[in-house]
Amino acid sequence: PEPVPQQLNTEQLARSLESARQRTTALTAFDDAELTRQHSPLMSPLVWDLAHIGQQEDLWLLRNGKSTLQGLLPPQIESLYDAFEHPRATRPSLPLLKPGAARTFIADVRGRVLDRLEQLERRGQLDQDAELFPYLMVSQHEQMHVETMLATHQLREGEPLFGTGTALPAGRATADDVVLVPGGPFVLGVDGADEPFSLDNERPAHRVQVPAFKIARFPVTNAEYARFVDAGGYRQRQWWSEAGWAHRQQAGLERPQFWTGDGSRRRFGVLEEIPADQPVQHVCFFEAEAYAAWIGARLPTEAEWEKAAVWDPSTGRRRRWPWGSSAPTPALANLGGGALQPAPVGAYPGGASAYGVEQLIGDVWEWTSSGFEAWPGFRPMLYRQYSEPFFGGDFRVLRGGSWAVGDGAIRPSFRNWDLPIRRQIFTGFRLAWDVEPTAGDDHV
Ligand code: AVJ
Ligand code: FE
Repeated sequence: PEPVPQQLNTEQLARSLESARQRTTALTAFDDAELTRQHSPLMSPLVWDLAHIGQQEDLWLLRNGKSTLQGLLPPQIESLYDAFEHPRATRPSLPLLKPGAARTFIADVRGRVLDRLEQLERRGQLDQDAELFPYLMVSQHEQMHVETMLATHQLREGEPLFGTGTALPAGRATADDVVLVPGGPFVLGVDGADEPFSLDNERPAHRVQVPAFKIARFPVTNAEYARFVDAGGYRQRQWWSEAGWAHRQQAGLERPQFWTGDGSRRRFGVLEEIPADQPVQHVCFFEAEAYAAWIGARLPTEAEWEKAAVWDPSTGRRRRWPWGSSAPTPALANLGGGALQPAPVGAYPGGASAYGVEQLIGDVWEWTSSGFEAWPGFRPMLYRQYSEPFFGGDFRVLRGGSWAVGDGAIRPSFRNWDLPIRRQIFTGFRLAWDVEPTAGDDHV
């Protein structure tokens, strides 16, 4: 059986907040013009993300979510950072805090948060669920905006600001790249007691039947995807859904975003040859779906994805990570953002799941065929509007996290979601196939 996760302590919470803040600081260490410019109507100016990170921390950690209490910002300024009130395209025209004021504000909030953590510790009032969860929630929120800011940087035109990223392990070829997952029961989702970082939409753990299916060992690579492009897949109606084809035509899609059409891609301002063996990224759901149809496959459902990632058929239990119970390391998965790109397929044999599926965690967010819905028994967390307003909308679930995901902001149960047309985020996909039910299967 899996060991139960260790008790959290305030030092770990402070470290997790600090690790998000280091990344925020690095992505916003530029002049005011860089921070206030909008690089795409899909994204906020970086200075909006910067102050929004502090505004959310102020609300959830200093006011326990009570928005009627005044925070460190005057209410009319604070409201500029309400994501529901102000869509991204409109944010550059708002009277936002200037970069210097935003930095002072978020440092002020953080100072008070750390003081509070210290007080809690001294009073010995630390109950795992009620007292500590908001800190985990807020550090993950900041990490999510760090990834959003990286997507903004990727859209930015101009001289590179970051170089080309840290080195990654080499890939490897394997003989059998399709894995069978037999049918049978599986526990989908997690509970807070087992997975303290889990957000509301990942809970509760519940038993589901997943019929047998096959799934690719690796995400689809650039070389594989280029064959679809070169074969004219973007001009052939039959591979696309109705909504997908309408979008392909209207948006003029011809290849993944940031590919130049001559075998190169632009990555954080650097023009480079497309690496053949890296997972393709910057494809939308409709492109992923069309590629799958062209090759005679489909996308996995999110239940299939999660089962392939964590189910251990030898114990009939979930693993905490695909490879077991130990936390991710650079030898197991490409996370943390330093690489600035996905690793080649085959780079993490030690990261394989019980079924032998690899690179589930890190590298690219993987599109699934599932819409974003509540698990049965869903209860909204302190940040009540995090998931609930999006259930039942036109969103598709993405799994596994990308190379850009930071500490504590990914696990096999983590559910990301976006519109099927979005591709500025670090998205790829892997294939799945139906399997004829056999007598040996255990599904009802
Ligand atoms: C979970 C990535 C879909 O950016 O819309 C950040 C994360 N929610 N602030 C988003 C989020 C509120 C969310 N995603
Ligand atoms: Fe946010």
